[in-house]
Amino acid sequence: MDRTLMIIKPDAVKKNAVGDIIRRVEEKGFVVRELRMLSQTKEQARAFYAVHRERPFYEDLVDFMASGPCVPLVLERKDAVPFLREVVGATNPDEAGEGTIRKAHGSNIQNNAVHASDSAENAVAEISFYFN
Ligand code: CMP
Repeated sequence: MDRTLMIIKPDAVKKNAVGDIIRRVEEKGFVVRELRMLSQTKEQARAFYAVHRERPFYEDLVDFMASGPCVPLVLERKDAVPFLREVVGATNPDEAGEGTIRKAHGSNIQNNAVHASDSAENAVAEISFYFN
């Protein structure tokens, strides 16, 4: 079975959407293998999103990810990485399809409720960022 990382971001935690988001991924056949809640420092958020450090939205993203608790989870399923990206929907909730998590819970392109790994290689690295 394949594994991927999802993070329920601070906006979704503040909206009390943790339970609904976990229900949605379980309903799609994912098994929750690891889960924790943490309040990230800006340094942790900077490190996690280092790939975006040259992008204009980087510092705002770091502030957002350090603005409250978030919930990283390891999810297992066949074809976990591409399948979770489908369930999550487009980065911009305005462009996310009906029935996706970002359509249901995202507010804007930054406060988009969840993160999902974008490749098998990144999934391995992102899982080890939060779980030993
Ligand atoms: P995520 O899938 O976690 O990957 C990078 C994050 O940067 C993205 O979700 C958004 O939360 C945030 N972000 C803010 N602005 C943009 C943008 N213009 N394009 C892509 N991501 C953005």
